[in-house]
Amino acid sequence: MPKALLLENIHPVGIQLLERAGWEVTALPGALDEADLIEALDGVAILGIRSKTTVTKKVLTARPSLEAVGAYCIGTNQIAVGQASQLGVAVFNAPYSNTRSVVELAVAEIIALTRRMTERDQSLHGGVWGKSAKGSHEVRGRTIGIVGYGAIGSQLSVLAEMLGMSVVFYDIAEKLTLGNARRLDSMDELLEEADVVSVHVDGRTSNTGLFGAEQFAAMRQGSVFINLSRGHVVDLGALRQAIESGHVAGAAVDVFPSEPKATGDPFASELQGLPNVILTPHVGGSTEEAQVSIGRFVSGKLRDFLSSGATGMSVNFPNLHLDRSDSSVGRLVHIHQNIPGVLASINQAMAAHNVNIVGQVLGTRNEVGYVLTDVGSPIEAKVLGTLASRPETIRLRVLD
Ligand SMILES: NC(=O)c1ccc[n+]([C@@H]2O[C@H](COP(=O)([O-])OP(=O)(O)OC[C@H]3O[C@@H](n4cnc5c(N)ncnc54)[C@H](O)[C@@H]3O)[C@@H](O)[C@H]2O)c1
Repeated sequence: MPKALLLENIHPVGIQLLERAGWEVTALPGALDEADLIEALDGVAILGIRSKTTVTKKVLTARPSLEAVGAYCIGTNQIAVGQASQLGVAVFNAPYSNTRSVVELAVAEIIALTRRMTERDQSLHGGVWGKSAKGSHEVRGRTIGIVGYGAIGSQLSVLAEMLGMSVVFYDIAEKLTLGNARRLDSMDELLEEADVVSVHVDGRTSNTGLFGAEQFAAMRQGSVFINLSRGHVVDLGALRQAIESGHVAGAAVDVFPSEPKATGDPFASELQGLPNVILTPHVGGSTEEAQVSIGRFVSGKLRDFLSSGATGMSVNFPNLHLDRSDSSVGRLVHIHQNIPGVLASINQAMAAHNVNIVGQVLGTRNEVGYVLTDVGSPIEAKVLGTLASRPETIRLRVLD
C-alpha cells in the first residue's frame, strides 16, 4: 500500500480520494521543518503540501522513496523543482482551481466600487443615513480594461460582458479573444478607454511597478482600479495620491508588496483610511469551493501518476498519458536524463528479451525524459536490471 503524507490541512476531499485509491494517508494540520519532514517521509511515496512547507534539495535527496510532490496551491516556489527533476520526482500543483473565486471577487468589487458601496455602508454603521445617488453608477454600459488576459483575466472578460460591460484588454502574449472583447495594442490605449482597470498579470520581475504615478495619471478621471494579481505590480503610494487627488475614484487591492505571514498578524498599508477603497488580505482565491477543487485536482493528479504514470499538467515532467490497450499486461515507467538514444536502448533491451511492446509514448522537458511503455508479456527481472544499470536512467517503475 503506497504511503502519502499530507501536511497543512489539505481538504478532506483530497485525503479521501487517495484513501479510496488504496493509499495509507497520514494527514497533519501544520507544516514541518526540514529535519522533521525528512523523518516523517520515511517510506513515503507522495508528499502533499501547501505554501508553508519548504521541500529542499536536502529533503529530496534524503528520501529516495519519494515519487511525487503535490503542491495543494498555485505556487511551487517552496519546492526545489530543479532538484526534483534531476531525481525523477514529479511535481504537481493546482493552477486553475481558484480562478473562478478570484474572478467573482473582482466582479463583486467592480460593482461595489462603481456604486461607492463601502461609503454607504460605513455611513450607516456610523449612525448616519447617507442616501444619495452622487458618484454611484451602474456597471452596465461601462468599459472594463483587463490588463493580463490569462486564466483569470479572460474569465473575468466573460462575466463582465454578462453584466453588460464592454471589455477591452491588453496582454503581452497572443491570446484568444473571448466574446465581444477587444484586444488593444498598448496599455496606454486601455487606460484611455477604461472606466474600470483590473490587473491580472503574472508575477514576473519585470512587472514590478507596472502601475505607478504615470499610469494612474493616464487613467480616466473618475475610473476605478483593481489589483488582485501580485503586490509588487503596483506602487501603492502613487495609488494613494491618485485617489486623494480625486482622479481615481476608488480601488480594491487584495495583494500587497509585503504581506503578514499569519492570520491575526498586524498589517499596515498606505491605502488604509481612504474613501471607496476595499482592502482584502490576499483572499482572492480563498473560498471553500476553491479548497475542495484544489484537494480534488491535486490528489487526482497524484493518484493517476502513481497508478498509470500519467503526468498531465505536471510542473516539471513532460505531460504524457498512454491509453491502455487490451493486450497490455504491464507498464514500464522510465524516467531518464534527456540525452539522445534512450528510447532506442529501452526498445533494444525489450527486444533482446522477446518482450513485445504494445504501446509507447516518449516526452522530454528540459533535462527530463519520460517514457511509458506497455508490454504484451511480463517484463523479466533481467530487462529491468539492464535498464536500471544504464547511466542515463533516473528511475524505473513497473505498473500492473
Ligand atoms: N489574489 C489571489 O488570491 C490570487 C489567486 C490566484 C492568482 N492570483 C494572481 O493573479 C494573477 C493572474 O493569474 P492567472 O492564473 O490568470 O495567470 P496567467 O499566467 O494565466 O495570466 C497572466 C497573463 O498576464 C500576461 N502578462 C504578463 N505580464 C504582462 C504585462 N506586463 N502586460 C500585459 N499582460 C501581461 C501574461 O501574458 C498572461 O496572459 C497572477 O499574478 C496570480 O499570481 C492571485
